[in-house]
Amino acid sequence: MRYLPFCACVVGVVAAKCYDPSPAFPVPTWGKSGPILPRSAFEAIEQLVENAVNGSFKTSSFSVEVTSNTDTLWSYHRSASIHDKERPGVTKVDSESQYRIASITKTFTTLAILYQHAAGNLSLDNSILDHLPELEGKDYGTLPMKDITLRILASQLSGIPREFAFADVLLVGVDPVDFGLPPVSKSVLNPCYSQPGAPECDRADLIHELVKMKPIFAPNQQSTYSNLAFDLLGLAIETSTGLNYSTYIEQAIFAPLNMTFASLETPPNDDHAVLPVGGNYWGEEESVQRPTGGIYASSSDMSKYLRYVLTHYNAIAKGINWFMPASWSTGMNTFYGMPWEIARSNKILLDSNRPVTLVTKGGALPGYFSIIVMLPEYGLGVTILVGGDSNLMPILEEAITVPLIRSAEAAIWKNINATIAGAYIATNPSLNSTITLESSPTSGLRLTTFISNSTDFLHDILPLIAGEFLGSDADTPYRIQLTPTLLYQNETTQSGEIWRMLLMSDHVKGKTNVWEYFCHTDVDPLSYAGLPINEVVFWHDEGIVELPAWKLTLRPAEAEERREGLIVQGRGDL
Ligand SMILES: *[C@@H]1O[C@H](CO)[C@@H](O)[C@H](O)[C@H]1NC(C)=O
Ligand SMILES: *[C@@H]1O[C@H](CO)[C@@H](O)[C@H](O)[C@H]1NC(C)=O
Ligand SMILES: *[C@@H]1O[C@H](CO)[C@@H](O)[C@H](O)[C@H]1NC(C)=O
Ligand SMILES: *[C@@H]1O[C@H](CO)[C@@H](O)[C@H](O)[C@H]1NC(C)=O
Ligand SMILES: *[C@@H]1O[C@H](CO)[C@@H](O)[C@H](O)[C@H]1NC(C)=O
Ligand SMILES: *[C@@H]1O[C@H](CO)[C@@H](O)[C@H](O)[C@H]1NC(C)=O
Ligand SMILES: *[C@@H]1O[C@H](CO)[C@@H](O)[C@H](O)[C@H]1NC(C)=O
Ligand SMILES: *[C@@H]1O[C@H](CO)[C@@H](O)[C@H](O)[C@H]1NC(C)=O
Repeated sequence: MRYLPFCACVVGVVAAKCYDPSPAFPVPTWGKSGPILPRSAFEAIEQLVENAVNGSFKTSSFSVEVTSNTDTLWSYHRSASIHDKERPGVTKVDSESQYRIASITKTFTTLAILYQHAAGNLSLDNSILDHLPELEGKDYGTLPMKDITLRILASQLSGIPREFAFADVLLVGVDPVDFGLPPVSKSVLNPCYSQPGAPECDRADLIHELVKMKPIFAPNQQSTYSNLAFDLLGLAIETSTGLNYSTYIEQAIFAPLNMTFASLETPPNDDHAVLPVGGNYWGEEESVQRPTGGIYASSSDMSKYLRYVLTHYNAIAKGINWFMPASWSTGMNTFYGMPWEIARSNKILLDSNRPVTLVTKGGALPGYFSIIVMLPEYGLGVTILVGGDSNLMPILEEAITVPLIRSAEAAIWKNINATIAGAYIATNPSLNSTITLESSPTSGLRLTTFISNSTDFLHDILPLIAGEFLGSDADTPYRIQLTPTLLYQNETTQSGEIWRMLLMSDHVKGKTNVWEYFCHTDVDPLSYAGLPINEVVFWHDEGIVELPAWKLTLRPAEAEERREGLIVQGRGDL
């Protein structure tokens, strides 16, 4: 067999040294035709949570829910054992108990902006100035607002200050001079937030303060968290819809999603209120700052919301995948989206170095700590709402999300092993063509034998051409791994699930050179007669596998055919 001079494919190859491909499996349909997250997985998480809490946190209540794209799979509620005697609020929390979700509100504000963008009422790339008619033709100070778009605000890239009416030492209720600060009069601050009993800060107050502010960074240069950015987006929503922020969010999001216990009007009555003892912000009016942190909601509301977001994130507005990062933060693996806090970690999976993507938004107000975590690859969303001690949140995050992902991963591979892995034989009996697919949590779904019309491709052909794709890594073990494209031959019926085969080097550890970190993604290396040579299509209902470029249709081999040696196991040596 002659060496086949392909293109300069080695460029795409560097990918082989990088992390395993994502996605590694199609988004599971939990508990239906797909894998099952066993009750024992959730019992194990409950045990971890109980061990971690271990009788402490007596003044804290929390609610946790895990939802799939379609159903709530698990909920867990724990009630504080100590309550305020005068005003206990709800003493037995459940999925209808209301918490302040604080900054998770920013995701609702962004969704509203996306809706207005999709409706053509505004553009994400409009300057915020276009939506502040108060400033039209006026001097708007030193913030470069002409260049600050709605997209930049939502992406934490505006470079404007973090706060409008919080976080000034003058408001803390201590004598600043005791801290070595020079004496100043409180009257330098806007009375709307510096004087007890003064009216709440409104739109006019915000605009009034805005024109005095200085930028931290130039727009679109460097991310830095800003609450004020979302107050401004709230104003843009009001200008665009002609409704106040709360009314629009209720009409456009809470009502259609049937978020029965969600509210922006302060405060909802105490029937479902989680009221931790000690200082808390229940009933603290945020007025013009509602768009940055004003929502009250229950865990069942959040599961409804997560199901919607998980199934619509790439279909809300043309050209926008809502889960994509927009900027990096200071971390190596953390990013800001609009306004997501996105992490990619390869520490979660025990058997694979494949990174898991967590699309999250956290929130905190005195007495209330919250996070939503979406795992788009797994079709899972997690809500954690705490009323009480802030130290609970990191404990719960770790105890819940990490085992959940590991259990989901195990269930998925078990399901793929049972439904896809195995030996397949050409439907055309005159053709000596067979494949074997194997799966494992370590290296995913792999092609381990491939005989095409009596040619043993993996054994006799691949070693001759592997160097073209893998460079020097062709000298170390490699494999052919399949990655789903999340597309179907027939999108209407969601049948004919399309995957691509990738030549992957096992060489991933011991990275030393800087350029080894440069990972390309390239899953379309070569075609044959115009068809992608690495395409594999699964027709699950029919039990058929197709390799279109090879004009090959295969069915599962019967045990008997395997005994007859039609399938030569383990020949690939991959
Ligand atoms: C739980 O608390 C008890 C007493 O407060 C302590 O002895 C025990 O070690 C704790 N268990 C764990 C798992 O932390
Ligand atoms: C677009 O704006 C108009 C005018 O403010 C409003 O009547 C309409 O409801 C908005 N459309 C959507 C989808 O919000
Ligand atoms: C928003 O508008 C609604 C309907 O007009 C009104 O009932 C509500 O009080 C308004 N809320 C605020 C904060 O202005
Ligand atoms: C809305 O949610 C409530 C529970 O909060 C439920 O009883 C009701 O059936 C839901 N309505 C619809 C239309 O799904
Ligand atoms: C995969 O399935 C095969 C055959 O059904 C079984 O023997 C094997 O133990 C399974 N492996 C895993 C990891 O589940
Ligand atoms: C199979 O290979 C033979 C040569 O060995 C060739 O004549 C024939 O066309 C091939 N058939 C298919 C379907 O690939
Ligand atoms: C099919 O092809 C393989 C690889 O060339 C060969 O080992 C095997 O004997 C062939 N089987 C049949 C039934 O011809
Ligand atoms: C998809 O499947 C449906 C139902 O079998 C069929 O009517 C339709 O023509 C198919 N679409 C394509 C693009 O094959």
